[in-house]
Amino acid sequence: MELKDVRALVTGGARGMGYAFTKELAESGAKVAFCDLDPAAVKEASEALGVPGFVCNVAEEDEVEKLMADAAEAIGGLNVLINNAGITRDGLLLKQDRETGEVKTMSKAKWDAVIAVNLTGPFLCARAFAKRCVEREVDDAVIVNMSSISRHGNYGQTNYVAAKAGLAADTVTWAKELSRYGIRVGAIAPGFILTPMVEAMPPAALDKIASGIPLKKLGKPVDIWRAVRFIIECDYFTGRVVDVDGGLRL
Ligand SMILES: NC(=O)c1ccc[n+]([C@@H]2O[C@H](COP(=O)([O-])OP(=O)(O)OC[C@H]3O[C@@H](n4cnc5c(N)ncnc54)[C@H](O)[C@@H]3O)[C@@H](O)[C@H]2O)c1
Repeated sequence: MELKDVRALVTGGARGMGYAFTKELAESGAKVAFCDLDPAAVKEASEALGVPGFVCNVAEEDEVEKLMADAAEAIGGLNVLINNAGITRDGLLLKQDRETGEVKTMSKAKWDAVIAVNLTGPFLCARAFAKRCVEREVDDAVIVNMSSISRHGNYGQTNYVAAKAGLAADTVTWAKELSRYGIRVGAIAPGFILTPMVEAMPPAALDKIASGIPLKKLGKPVDIWRAVRFIIECDYFTGRVVDVDGGLRL
């Protein structure tokens, strides 16, 4: 698909990578809308980028259904979905205090929150998007899922790992199921990318992470945009996860 023909919805587009994808798409001549949680952040990003922004929690079924209709109306249809919204609520499955012997565990609230946004959200968005495409006989459409290098298993991320591994697996499932309708599905598994999600970590921890990456640096949102662009543009690509991690998993 050529970028000039793209009519895209980006979830979690008010900041971080979603903001970068929305900006790059708009500057490439695509039509684009985005959603995010906080009304003030949506308004600010919408004004800065000059594209329609919608307030929507991707984990809420009714809100997602309305979002699809509103976004499609605002930009004259939809043929690309970028399932980008995500959160972390890190913690160990359990941790024992050496002195007291007390065992603390990851709360079910932390598990539920991350699964809701990072796995249920992409499911709801992909389902609503694909249904629209099939009903309207859109013969060329693309879903891009934002997985993570964490999907292979990562210390302190029981909840996030499960969601991102699930999303990578559903990328394959949806690619198989939706190809007959002309819908391709790809995923990207970023390593450490400098966005508010990662910038929240202490600088010393970020330096330590960078030293363990073969390319010796963290990635930038534009590095991931280039992978998004590849998935959109390459008409023979579907069902795969592209790792963009500076060699972290080598
Ligand atoms: N930054 C990284 O190093 C990294 C690495 C691997 C994967 N990822 C994934 O890439 C995606 C983007 O990450 P980022 O670093 O830009 O994150 P970020 O925290 O900087 O931005 C995420 C955006 O999603 C929005 N959001 C959160 N919950 C939402 C919800 N329920 N509904 C709608 N919007 C919601 C946030 O408000 C925020 O604007 C996420 O799925 C993340 O898990 C990030």
